[in-house]
Amino acid sequence: MADSIESMQAEGMTFEPPAWVRDNAYLKTREEYDAMYKRSVEDPEGFWAEQADEYLFWHKKWDTVLNWEFDTPKVEWFKGGLTNVAYNCIDRHLTTWRRNKAAIIWESDEGRTKMYTYQALYYKVCKLANVLKKHGIKKGDRVVIYLPMIPELAVAMLACARIGAIHSIVFAGFSAAAMRDRIQDCGAKMIITADEGIRGGRVVPLKAEADSALYECPTVETCLVVSRARARVDMEPGRDFWYHEEVRSADISRHCEIEWMDSEDPLFILYTSGSTGKPKGVLHTTAGYLLYSAMTFKYDFDYHDEDVFWCTADIGWVTGHSYVVYGPLCVGATSLMFEGVPNYPHPGRFWEVIEKHGVNQFYTAPTAIRAIMKSGDDWPKKFDLSTLRVLGTVGEPINPEAWMWYFNVIGKGKIPIVDTYWQTETGGHLITNQPGWTPMKPGSATFPFFGIRPVVLNEDQSETPVNSGGRLCIDFPWPGMLRGTWGDAENTLVKNTYFSQFPGKYFTGDGARVDQDGYYWLLGRVDDVINVSGHRMGTAEVESALVSQPLVAEAAVVGFPHDIKGEGIYAYVILKSGVEVPKSVESILAGHVREQIGPIAKPDHIQIVPELPKTRSGKIMRRILRKIAAGERDMDTFGDITTLADPSIVKVIVDGAPKL
Ligand code: PRX
Repeated sequence: MADSIESMQAEGMTFEPPAWVRDNAYLKTREEYDAMYKRSVEDPEGFWAEQADEYLFWHKKWDTVLNWEFDTPKVEWFKGGLTNVAYNCIDRHLTTWRRNKAAIIWESDEGRTKMYTYQALYYKVCKLANVLKKHGIKKGDRVVIYLPMIPELAVAMLACARIGAIHSIVFAGFSAAAMRDRIQDCGAKMIITADEGIRGGRVVPLKAEADSALYECPTVETCLVVSRARARVDMEPGRDFWYHEEVRSADISRHCEIEWMDSEDPLFILYTSGSTGKPKGVLHTTAGYLLYSAMTFKYDFDYHDEDVFWCTADIGWVTGHSYVVYGPLCVGATSLMFEGVPNYPHPGRFWEVIEKHGVNQFYTAPTAIRAIMKSGDDWPKKFDLSTLRVLGTVGEPINPEAWMWYFNVIGKGKIPIVDTYWQTETGGHLITNQPGWTPMKPGSATFPFFGIRPVVLNEDQSETPVNSGGRLCIDFPWPGMLRGTWGDAENTLVKNTYFSQFPGKYFTGDGARVDQDGYYWLLGRVDDVINVSGHRMGTAEVESALVSQPLVAEAAVVGFPHDIKGEGIYAYVILKSGVEVPKSVESILAGHVREQIGPIAKPDHIQIVPELPKTRSGKIMRRILRKIAAGERDMDTFGDITTLADPSIVKVIVDGAPKL
């Protein structure tokens, strides 16, 4: 991937932002950015108070801008202020010309379009909010949403926000078992799902999955079911209700009172993988999160009122939360929501949708770009992409070859690409270029957003010299950062995960280096988390799925470089002794992981091994497993293996690995 002519050309090259984009951008020069950045870090409270005034409606102003300490840790922004996310995303636009602007343009899998103005969205959200109340949902209750990319998903989020319920969206590609774990962890009272999802022409049986999860979820009293596919599904009397019947019921008003929320009241929980076995329920609160997603949205995509913005991410991930729904709607944008996949019904689908809706900003993941690149340059050429002004990427470092293709073939060499680095925990972009002024270096996320104070540290806490890799930490709180994880009032998990390795700092889990021009280059995760198609997967999570299969005694999972996905999943498995091993054991195990977590966690390779390379104290030497997974077969390259309890196992594993 790295040694094509294009990628070698891209190495060390800098691309100036084109003048036609710069001339209309909010920020046109380095000096403008520097001045704003300087103020944001020298007077954070003054800076953020001004922004909070500009971007958000306040029912009551805050008492303090910021309370924080990174020991517990505890972070509060705009405490004592009262506001509401749904009010900010909808109601306040209704008294402006935006009332009749498209808030959401929905493009279905089969190519149908629906459009909702802010006014129409208001009625839909209010009606659903009233349905939630009718079913006993109150401020602070948890609602799990398990929906495909249909407008009702955004409506459900905003309806929860309107009445102060906390939503937790479970990506519709997760399995029943994964959903069950999340429902149980947050103690959800209601779930909102659909009969079936439709993606790439294929049916996803969501209600059936939900039913099997709900067997073991006694806290759930109500299940609302959207009829997406007009499928006949089992409906349990007293528990299951059709969404369309409920919202049309005569007693449901199209207005619904706002629940004014403290800035620090929870908005949502989103589960994400970490280096421990169980996914964590990352908790985001009201005002700071909304402010941060709105501001990053406006500046980093240079969104102007007449633009159509399209983020291809599923709302089941944080990117969809912040840049399909909350950030765009908060600033009154038109956000395109896409139900389908890039290659259905043909590999030009993305470009067709851009032409159809006149998309101005297009935001996707490197993995999608690599997959589309494979089908050649003719597909994008068939469509009119002339409305595009900003391209964006997110999820993993973009390799120079994919960057150059995106720049030349999609952007015709005249559209900036913003490389946005951030995480579920950070609420919005941490490090990114901005379209109007930042000279781009392919593969570098460039500079910090306002208020972000990154530091790259050696393990001994000292700062790394120029161009030398280290651990990326953030020194000071920002409004969009996580406040905790669900169910951990003491914040012990957050402390141990993010604030203990480098005391007094938030540790991202990523490696980075800063070059001679101050550009940040992300180097990938330094913990046991792998990045599969821009999605985070904890190796421990896949391992525990594997060992829950009765044939498996032990498992070790590592990532390996993958052409399309960025990283693939490689599992080494020791089977239990004495069990009869079926012929298709690998596919049984892969199927089991799929059932436990979902298709994204399915290992690309499973290798049955007699033993794992362990030190005498029993620690698995993952470095060796990673090398073998990456295709290393030369025994001399494994370094010192004499500390292993049984060094001969390395050769056995190498011999059993797939031939290259
Ligand atoms: O390793 C970084 C990588 O994705 C991780 C966060 O994953 P998640 O919480 O699922 O959120 C993904 C979308 C925000 C990070 O720790 N990552 C994300 N964006 C980039 C990136 N790595 C390099 N460059 C990026 N632009």
